[in-house]
Amino acid sequence: MDVTSRYSISARRMSRSIIRELLKLTNKKGLVSFAGGLPYPGTFPAEELATITEGVLKEEPGLALQYSPTEGLPSLRENLRSFLEKRGFNCSTKELIVTSASQQSLDLVAKIFLDRGDLVVTENPSYLGAMSAFRSYGARFLAIEMDERGMRTAFLRERLAELKKTAGTGNEYYQNMPKFIYTIPDFQNPTGITMSMERRQELMEIAEEFDMIIVEDVPYRWLRYSGEEYPMLSAMDRQNRVIGLFTFSKILSPGMRLGWLTADERIMDKLVQAKQATDLCTSAFSQSIAERFISGGQIDVRIKRNIDIYRKKRDLMVGELKKNLEGLKGVEINEPSGGLFLWISLPEDIDTDELFIEAIDRNVAYVIGSAFFPNGGGHNTMRLNFSYPSEEEIVTGISRLSSLIRDRMEGRG
Ligand SMILES: Cc1ncc(COP(=O)(O)O)c(C=O)c1O
Repeated sequence: MDVTSRYSISARRMSRSIIRELLKLTNKKGLVSFAGGLPYPGTFPAEELATITEGVLKEEPGLALQYSPTEGLPSLRENLRSFLEKRGFNCSTKELIVTSASQQSLDLVAKIFLDRGDLVVTENPSYLGAMSAFRSYGARFLAIEMDERGMRTAFLRERLAELKKTAGTGNEYYQNMPKFIYTIPDFQNPTGITMSMERRQELMEIAEEFDMIIVEDVPYRWLRYSGEEYPMLSAMDRQNRVIGLFTFSKILSPGMRLGWLTADERIMDKLVQAKQATDLCTSAFSQSIAERFISGGQIDVRIKRNIDIYRKKRDLMVGELKKNLEGLKGVEINEPSGGLFLWISLPEDIDTDELFIEAIDRNVAYVIGSAFFPNGGGHNTMRLNFSYPSEEEIVTGISRLSSLIRDRMEGRG
């Protein structure tokens, strides 16, 4: 039976994630992988969750095991509102819904805004999962270069001004301009870069000037190990043009598949309609457990503990890289002040796609940087994850990777 010719246009546009395909190669015994993006299992509060789960099943089985409102359980929404308020962002519970983690939020946003051929602004590079979600609805990308202060907003302004010249007016304007700006301002995936205060202000001004929606994705925001914190774009927003994507994945557990989203009430209505068609509701079971975890204050204790664990791992990886790669010209290591990832740029003539196969031979893996550039490029870059590997694995893996880079660079003509 020929199934391919029956697929929808959007299904035909989908492809397997390069990262997932590459990860298959890393299932080799003895290999140290810096390729995934997984939290460290030692951060999962299994015992506390076991106690909470027992309580939930004994005390409110009729709620936890039942369908729930598409918007999320009212008690959890209220707790999440207050979680954000404590962290400098005020919104109403009507402007907040629970989602089945941020990947669903990305899909819902794409579903309500994107038609085939629509433009989306992203950072260059950007999160692969977001690009896949947007691409499946036919998006094209206006990818804006980054530097150590985040998205280069001056370039964005120039590009938008060019597009505006031919965008027309009224409805036509909104159809021809990018539908939204997608950004990960804190400890970005993949680069680990944080957007500076000036850039945040400029981005908000640009959004106002061109009447754009911003989608702010902050899965790593609360994993800060050093440096100064800047306000969320959502908190700087005076015109309800920012949609905020939040998740429990990196602060509690990705297995619970739980996140939340904030947006203007009018947009929310459309998002809820889209979510109804997608999954009716997010698991009430997960929500009931998370609600108790948050209201009991355990989440704050957990976040602090996780920060200590991850800071040590980050320091170790950065230290090992500096020690092992010292003196190599053209090698740049981005030292992130939070999150789970570290980014390396090598001299232009070193192709990390090619180097990857050799790395696997030497029992170490990374993610090829080119996978994160929506319109191509980045062939001399790589992303390393420091949250999942153990400290011993970090030392061994960085030593293997560094000698590979050193051999390649010193061996070239
Ligand atoms: C930037 C970014 N957004 C969204 C997600 C999706 O996370 P989840 O669906 O687990 O909330 C990830 C996961 O790694 C991510 O890095």
